[in-house]
Amino acid sequence: MEDNEFIKLIKARRAIRDYDTERDVPDELIYKIIETGGYAPSAENQQPWRIIVVRDKELQEFIGQIAVDRTILLFGRATPRQELERRLSYIRSKASLERTIDILITGRRFEYIKGKPETNGAPVLLVLAVDQTHVGNSQPTLRGTGGVYGWSAPRHAVVAGGMMMQNMMLAAASLGLGTCVSSVQLDHFDDVRAISEKLGIPFPHWVPILCLTVGYPKYERTLGPPRQPPEEIAFLNKWGEPFKIRE
Ligand SMILES: Cc1cc2nc3c(=O)[nH]c(=O)nc-3n(C[C@H](O)[C@H](O)[C@H](O)COP(=O)(O)O)c2cc1C
Repeated sequence: MEDNEFIKLIKARRAIRDYDTERDVPDELIYKIIETGGYAPSAENQQPWRIIVVRDKELQEFIGQIAVDRTILLFGRATPRQELERRLSYIRSKASLERTIDILITGRRFEYIKGKPETNGAPVLLVLAVDQTHVGNSQPTLRGTGGVYGWSAPRHAVVAGGMMMQNMMLAAASLGLGTCVSSVQLDHFDDVRAISEKLGIPFPHWVPILCLTVGYPKYERTLGPPRQPPEEIAFLNKWGEPFKIRE
């Protein structure tokens, strides 16, 4: 079956980490992206999300530096080189692979979050925070499933937040914009606290979980990590029996 235009857009979207620093993104487009994000589903329509639009360069630098520092620990120290090579095996040229590994382990690959022209930084950084309690605090009149079952609250908020993020990425792609979702600066508890404090997020009620850089791509990027086909990720009826199109 042929891919339609929407499916083509989904498949063509790539994580963009080099932005055209000569071109800003107008607020109207950021507004449209966030508005589209808000059409994502959420448990009981609680919309347990908030977005902080970070245009301030100092704040971008602060968040970006955390990403760089954590990446050095993650890829430079904790991840074996062999594993990096395995993950990047879709890069055919040896020189390109070496360059990619070098910018990963030195953290330079993550400088784009800082928004600086010298590293092709993104003009806009969106920070997504979710309401982990999800018991009706996002909308005071509702008492959500999370409130009834307790344990499901953070999970629902994160799931809904992820869907909201995906909507924003696809909306941006449809407008010709590049994005990159990132979490490395929000993986460590200390960083979540520091970033919350800096942005005035009422943590721990609201928890920042992901960032999204937005800008016009500096280069077209078509090559990306490959995806597993459905027969490798889907089963028919029971775990283990690959799902395939029937003859
Ligand atoms: C939950 C999540 C966390 C991610 N964290 C980071 C990150 O910290 N830094 C980054 O540059 N990219 C991050 N990414 C982007 C992925 O690396 C990227 O989407 C993946 O390698 C597939 O590449 P593609 O989006 O170009 O298809 C993250 C993506 C997701 C969904």
